Amino acid sequence: MSKVQIKVNDNGSLRVTGDFEVIDVEGNVFPTKEAVSLCRCGLSSKKPFCDGSHKGNFQSVDRALPASDE
Ligand code: FES
Repeated sequence: MSKVQIKVNDNGSLRVTGDFEVIDVEGNVFPTKEAVSLCRCGLSSKKPFCDGSHKGNFQSVDRALPASDE
């Protein structure tokens, strides 16, 4: 089983890779491939998946902060 990774793309989607399932609130599984891009801008017409509508319409650049030693 491969580790699931979620990459927060600049100004766009969440790219998910690894061994995962995307399910709806009732537990039904969306058909997916080995990697998916999830919409985080709210503009996609194919939610929960990204359809590219974010391009030029969404800005978010997020970086993980290093863990503190406390
Ligand atoms: S993140 Fe791509 S359409 Fe929303």
